[in-house]
Amino acid sequence: VRGLLPGSALSVTQLEVRAEGLAERFTALTGRGPAGVWAAPGRVNLIGEHTDYNEGFVLPVALDRATLAAVAPRRNDAAHCWSTNPTSPQAVSTTLDAAGPGGPTGWSAYVLGVLWALMKEGVQLPGFDVLVDTNVPLGAGLSSSAALECAITLAATDLAGATLDRSRLAQVARRAENEVVGAPTGVMDQMAAMHGGRDAAVFLDCRSLVVRRVPLELTTAGLTLVIINTGVAHSLVDGQYADRRAACEQAARLLDVPALRDATPAMVERARNELGELLWRRSRHVVSEDERVLDVVRLLESGRAGEIGSLLDASHASLRDDFEVSCEELDVAVEAATSAGAFGARMTGGGFGGSAVALVPVDEVSAVRDAVGAAYRERHFAAPEVFEVVASDGARRIR
Ligand code: GLA
Repeated sequence: VRGLLPGSALSVTQLEVRAEGLAERFTALTGRGPAGVWAAPGRVNLIGEHTDYNEGFVLPVALDRATLAAVAPRRNDAAHCWSTNPTSPQAVSTTLDAAGPGGPTGWSAYVLGVLWALMKEGVQLPGFDVLVDTNVPLGAGLSSSAALECAITLAATDLAGATLDRSRLAQVARRAENEVVGAPTGVMDQMAAMHGGRDAAVFLDCRSLVVRRVPLELTTAGLTLVIINTGVAHSLVDGQYADRRAACEQAARLLDVPALRDATPAMVERARNELGELLWRRSRHVVSEDERVLDVVRLLESGRAGEIGSLLDASHASLRDDFEVSCEELDVAVEAATSAGAFGARMTGGGFGGSAVALVPVDEVSAVRDAVGAAYRERHFAAPEVFEVVASDGARRIR
C-alpha cells in the first residue's frame, strides 16, 4: 500500500492532527489559543558531507518528521518556552533581552537564539509563548536543531509581519546555531529545512546559496531511503567538528584558494608534500565529495536513481578513511546494510555517531533491518532504530 500512496500525503494529515493536539495543549498551558502552528522538518543528507562550510555542494532531503511550534505573541517582552519532550525541562521563562551569544543554554537557546538573530536583522519582535513538539530523533544527525530553529524563525517572522525570503530565514537560523548555541556549523541543515520538497532533494551551492530541486523519484524505481539511527549521540558543539573545519581552512590557505570548493583533486595531489599527510587526506575528502555530489545530481536528473549507490559507498569510505568522522557503529550499519542488499549506504550528518542512510530496494527493507539488527547484537551494541523516510516539504504554517 505504501508504494501506491504518495507518502507525503499521509504525513500532511498526520501533521494536521499533531498541530491540533499541540494547539489544545498550548491552550491548556497558557489559557489562550496559539496564533498559529508552524512546522519545519529534519533532514537527511543524501550526499555532500563536510562540504557546506567549504563553500561546496550538498544534496540533503527534508524528512517526513518535523518539529512543530505553537506560538502566540505577548504584550510584553517575556518569552515562555515549553516542550512536550519529557526529557526537556518543562518550562523556560525569560525575556527577549536575555537572548544573545552566551545567552540561555539548553533547548531554549535555539528558540531565543533565533529571536535574537531576527532582531539583529532589524525585525521588531514582541515577546512570545512557545510550545514545541518534535518527532525528529534528537542528537541523531537528522538536524533536530535546524528543525526547531526554522519552525521558530518562520513563526516569529510571520507574526511580526516581516518578509524575508527562505534563504535569508535559513541564514538567520544558522546564525542562532553558530553564535548562540555555539556550534560552528554550515548552512546546509537550515537550507534543507527551508527549501525541502516532496519527492525532491535540495541541491545547494553553499557559496552562492542557489538552490535547485532535484527529482528523487524513488518509488517508481522500486527504491526507498532507510535511516539507521545508531543511537550514539553526536554533538556539534564538541571540538571534533570545529577541528575538521579548521583543518579545511588551513588546507585552503596552503593551496592558496579562498575555500576548498576552489581546489581540484589534481591540485590536492600536487600539493601533497606541502599539505602534509593529514591535511592532504582532509582536502582529498572535500574535493572528491564535491565531485560525487555533482555526479549524483546528474544521475538523478537523468532518471537513474538506481545508479547512485556506488557514489554513496565511496562517500562513506572517504568520510571514514580520509576525513575520519565515522565510528564503529556507523561502519557496521553501512556494511550490514550493503551486504543485505542496499544499493549504497553512508553515514549522514556531522558524524561521530548519529545516523546512516541507505538506498534500499523496497523488497529488501526487512532484510536490511534484520541484518543491521543482527550485526549490532553480535557486537553488543544497543539496538539501532531503522525506519524509512520520504522526501517532504520544507518549513510551513500548518494552522
Ligand atoms: C552538520 C552541520 C552541517 C554540515 C554537516 C556535515 O550537520 O550542521 O552544517 O556541516 O554536519 O556535512
